[in-house]
Amino acid sequence: MNSTGDQNSDVAAEAMKSLKKQALFACIATATITLSAFAALKMADAVREQTKRDMVAIDLAKYRPASVPRGRARFMETCASCHGSNGAGMPKQGANLRFSTFIADHQPGELAAFIRNGRTPNDPQTVMQLPMPPRGGNGNLDEQQLIDIAAYLRELQKQAQDELQADAQSNATR
Ligand code: HEC
Repeated sequence: MNSTGDQNSDVAAEAMKSLKKQALFACIATATITLSAFAALKMADAVREQTKRDMVAIDLAKYRPASVPRGRARFMETCASCHGSNGAGMPKQGANLRFSTFIADHQPGELAAFIRNGRTPNDPQTVMQLPMPPRGGNGNLDEQQLIDIAAYLRELQKQAQDELQADAQSNATR
């Protein structure tokens, strides 16, 4: 009798231990998840803050001659793999840039700063919940090249609008 009772209480003690372990584990897991979510948000903040500072710095440089053809060449090398050669975006790779309101709403200097720093998936402005790598992953792009690419992005949007209108007109006359 006594030994069964002891066994039972042993079992109970073991069960208690394992419950405590589980609870502790759950606590640690929750804390880890909370911390990493917090760290990711801090990251997004840091990138956005840097972009804001760069916007001021690069805005002055935008008076340097920007070149659309040069920007287009750099775009084809660095950006087209994710954004498509016409900027329409590749599924799960990169956003559509042809009708991006973000591009429409920003000056070339601001766009150059954006391209320099990229965007993390936690950024409130995220459009795909995917990372946009700084400089599109090409660390060799210098300031002038970033400005050239930004000038090309604005041109790309004009072209996209023109094509849209041409399509609408040919549909109307059909
Ligand atoms: C590895 C893939 C990849 C490459 C290379 C890349 N991008 Fe992106 N880009 C993305 C993704 C993904 C997003 C969307 C991020 C998000 O979820 O908000 C994005 C977003 C953008 C946006 C913001 C669009 C919007 O409407 O908010 C611009 C502008 C942009 N990219 C320009 C460029 C340029 C210019 C280059 C080349 C220098 C480039 N990207 C290279 C993946 C890429």
